[in-house]
Amino acid sequence: MDVFKVSGNGPLNGTIEVGGAKNAALPILAATLLTDETVVLKNVPDLSDMRFMIEILQHVGAETVQPEPGTWEITAKKITHVAPYELVRKMRASVCLLGPLVARMRRAEVSIPGGCVIGPRPIDLHIKGLQKLNCKVDISNGYVHVDASAIKGGPIFLGGRSGSTVTGTANIVMAAVLAPGSTRLECAACEPEVVDLCNLLVKMGAKIDGIGSPELIITGVEKLHGCEHTVIADRIEAGTFIVAAAITRGDVTVKGIAPKLLSAFLDKLEEAGLPMELGEDSIRVLPYEGSLKPVDVITLPHPGYPTDLQAQLGALMTQTDGISIITERIYPNRFMHVPELQRMGADIAMEGPSAIIKGASKLSGAPVMASDLRASAALILAAFAATGDTWIQRIYHLDRGYERFEQKLTAIGAKIERLSEKDMPKELFEE
Ligand code: EPU
Repeated sequence: MDVFKVSGNGPLNGTIEVGGAKNAALPILAATLLTDETVVLKNVPDLSDMRFMIEILQHVGAETVQPEPGTWEITAKKITHVAPYELVRKMRASVCLLGPLVARMRRAEVSIPGGCVIGPRPIDLHIKGLQKLNCKVDISNGYVHVDASAIKGGPIFLGGRSGSTVTGTANIVMAAVLAPGSTRLECAACEPEVVDLCNLLVKMGAKIDGIGSPELIITGVEKLHGCEHTVIADRIEAGTFIVAAAITRGDVTVKGIAPKLLSAFLDKLEEAGLPMELGEDSIRVLPYEGSLKPVDVITLPHPGYPTDLQAQLGALMTQTDGISIITERIYPNRFMHVPELQRMGADIAMEGPSAIIKGASKLSGAPVMASDLRASAALILAAFAATGDTWIQRIYHLDRGYERFEQKLTAIGAKIERLSEKDMPKELFEE
């Protein structure tokens, strides 16, 4: 297995480019099943999660061509309605095949994705939404079986305990675009990735009003057609690079990201005192004297502070002057990185779903274990601020969601090497 060896190397400097958004590209790839015509997708990041999704599309019968890196031409002329466990288990997001299969095939059998380290990932709201669309849903043998022969639009309130659901909204919108009648979807997720999906669907001929708001009105059409679409930039990748610049007191321009996609995150950094220059399509982080200030953050659905930038901000807060409180409302267990940061010298106490982070910690390199995608990023960011070498194991989590991570950061001065577990010094494992 690959590991990263990361060494603190002072301020990062230069320009770094953001790639296509993983969480936009995944449902968008699934949406290509909604038509028998070719959909051309550009700016699709090269990540293991994309490869899983392409494999599933191929399995259900789509033809996939990659004419050049980042571009996929997908034609789903004849497809089946079954997404089996051996493919779905590799990636939770494969649940967003449900909507397109239901819409196009009027039935679906999709394996229920397995557990997840960041906490329970139920799909009850996806099921409720389908039932409100007059589908019969049955769960047996680890599969969701949907009979959508009588599908029709209707009013749906899709909110749960934590508010809206991102892939749940994607699924129900995709199911509704080809359903007869009109669907009023309330408490729809407003994340930019859902907006991107809706924009693609409109290009394909769907009728959706209220895009970007919590109330979507979808008028079913008979058929969708092919189109070309460029996936939006990855706001979470951009946010991760911004923290990399901030934690090293660097001068870094993050290019290819509209600041308005990151308003809640940038607002917190501004409160912390990080000097930044916002362009139309770029964010420049400037070096600063003294320390950043602590912040109090609660993760919430968009436009609130994103859970996917919670761990990274936590790493930065270990270096501020004071006590920060980070409360996780979307996935209360999403703090697996905390014990690893503690091993590096961070002073963090957990109080229920809140991390109380005492700043000004002197971090030092240690062998640490990545537990999920964003936790991996947080450990690397902390390693930039640490003395000595940090060895990060299980970086396959990182490879799911960050494209050419070490190459991009090395180009602006970071010291990250991808090595094999067997290259780790033996003394790290001695008592
Ligand atoms: N929820 C339910 N029932 C459901 C669905 C969700 O109770 O049927 C709850 C969840 O347990 C959670 C909350 O609703 O507490 C929000 O979950 P959501 O459905 O919005 O999450 P998701 O669609 O499964 C996407 C991203 C995640 C990101 C979340 C929240 C994709 C592929 N994944 O997950 O991304 O954290 O939205 O913004 O889009 C990541 O990229 O690292 C990642 C985990």
